[in-house]
Amino acid sequence: MKKNGQLNLIPPIELRQTDTIFDALKNIEGKHWMIVTVVDDQGCLVGVASPGDLRRAILQGHPVSTTLKRVMNDEPILIEEEQLKKTEDVNQVLEDMKAAYGDIYFRYAMAPVVRKDKKVVGLINLDSLTVYVSKDQEPMATNHRTVLIVGGGGYIGSTLARVLLNDGWSVRVLDKFIYYGDSLKGIDNNRFELMEGDAANIDDIVRAVDGVDAVVYLAELVGDPACAEAPQAALKTNYLAVTSMAHLCSHLNINRFVYMSSCSVYGASENPDEFLTEESALNPVSLYARIKSLVEESILSVCNLPNPLFAPTILRLATVFGPSYRPRFDLVVNIFAKNAYQNKKIEVHGGGNQWRPNVHVKDVAGAINAVLNAPIDDVRAQTFNVGGDAQNHTINDLAELTKQVFPATEIIRNSDLIDPRNYRVSFEKLERVVGFKAKHSVVEALQEFKELFENKSTEDLDSLHFSNVRALQALKYS
Ligand SMILES: NC(=O)c1ccc[n+]([C@@H]2O[C@H](COP(=O)([O-])OP(=O)(O)OC[C@H]3O[C@@H](n4cnc5c(N)ncnc54)[C@H](O)[C@@H]3O)[C@@H](O)[C@H]2O)c1
Repeated sequence: MKKNGQLNLIPPIELRQTDTIFDALKNIEGKHWMIVTVVDDQGCLVGVASPGDLRRAILQGHPVSTTLKRVMNDEPILIEEEQLKKTEDVNQVLEDMKAAYGDIYFRYAMAPVVRKDKKVVGLINLDSLTVYVSKDQEPMATNHRTVLIVGGGGYIGSTLARVLLNDGWSVRVLDKFIYYGDSLKGIDNNRFELMEGDAANIDDIVRAVDGVDAVVYLAELVGDPACAEAPQAALKTNYLAVTSMAHLCSHLNINRFVYMSSCSVYGASENPDEFLTEESALNPVSLYARIKSLVEESILSVCNLPNPLFAPTILRLATVFGPSYRPRFDLVVNIFAKNAYQNKKIEVHGGGNQWRPNVHVKDVAGAINAVLNAPIDDVRAQTFNVGGDAQNHTINDLAELTKQVFPATEIIRNSDLIDPRNYRVSFEKLERVVGFKAKHSVVEALQEFKELFENKSTEDLDSLHFSNVRALQALKYS
């Protein structure tokens, strides 16, 4: 921001009082940090509106056709161009803004800089002022968006929350911690906020979206056995809760909405030698996967509602592997690692020639971050497979890779087909459109597990916390 003692101003987005909430949202789309300045016929500032102001107005019942005159903040804090030339005055400006915006977010606030006649010469964010007055301070990351991770306490969410914080996001998690309450402990960051609550409770989701710029939805009963165990709860959370959230976000113009689907929607492929793409036919073979394909359609259909800016993205994840802060030992690679270490035995069912795409949990978090940062038009209403081409393996391959890392492992094969999924998947589109390529291999994760187990960094591996279906059975969850 600061170059050679100068403060750089950001060009304003100027609208008139007769322009609407929709006009303002359209103009600041993708520029989450931005405000619009509202000027009169002489071009003099009469108010400002931030995305938060506009969404609060919608929540209070204003249609998006409401004019800015009715919803703008007509008493914004202004900075006079002259004030910026004197360091003491800049300090005073900072104090005023801190009083108005509060402690945590005050450095993210944006303010108009005006001439004496109230013509806007530019906008300035408080970070650049802070850096200006205290010469030693480093500018903050420019990525000031707030993302809500629904289900952020789970296997993927607990890794994702840390990745997004490291990338400069403010992160709020909504989770009811069905399995494990410790996954987010130890995050010491004033950009992190935890909200315990239920994604299937309308009051909780309305509270959770306040002030956020993007939503990543992960809260579900995850996996075929978990959904088979509690089908009614699966319908409530995996279908009704997520579609309600999509409707709420569309209504409030929280347009970046990332939904986690699964490559399970491809089910049992007719020709498993072929690489399936996002265009391939779906053939879900479980309740979990059937609900996923229903939700994909339902979320994309929200784009037909009145908000044309809504930009949902569907990510079809391969089966995830690797250590996380809420471990899951009910996923194939993770089960193999645990059993190879604990029992020196792993079981391969159904012959082992079934193909399965796989992806490291760190790559899932990286892919979600890449989608959140991608130009919104590139990801609006798009579906992407998430994984790595080189991580398509047969179950037999996975067993052999496990034996490489845990050499004492005996592989026991039987013909009972427990899981009929059999498919290979192409991940070309994610790389082509979003520029994301998975980096981490199955062997790498097996080695990470080995190290963790040997250092005893994971508590009792058989704990109910680490298996969705066993935990739900114990809780009699419905
Ligand atoms: N792990 C995989 O292999 C995989 C593969 C494909 C897709 N996915 C998808 O990724 C997402 C996350 O999966 P995961 O592996 O992290 O699962 P997980 O079970 O570890 O996490 C789910 C989280 O959601 C929370 N949750 C469940 N119901 C809730 C509710 N009603 N309200 C609030 N919180 C609730 C749970 O407490 C848990 O923390 C899911 O949508 C899943 O379908 C995962």
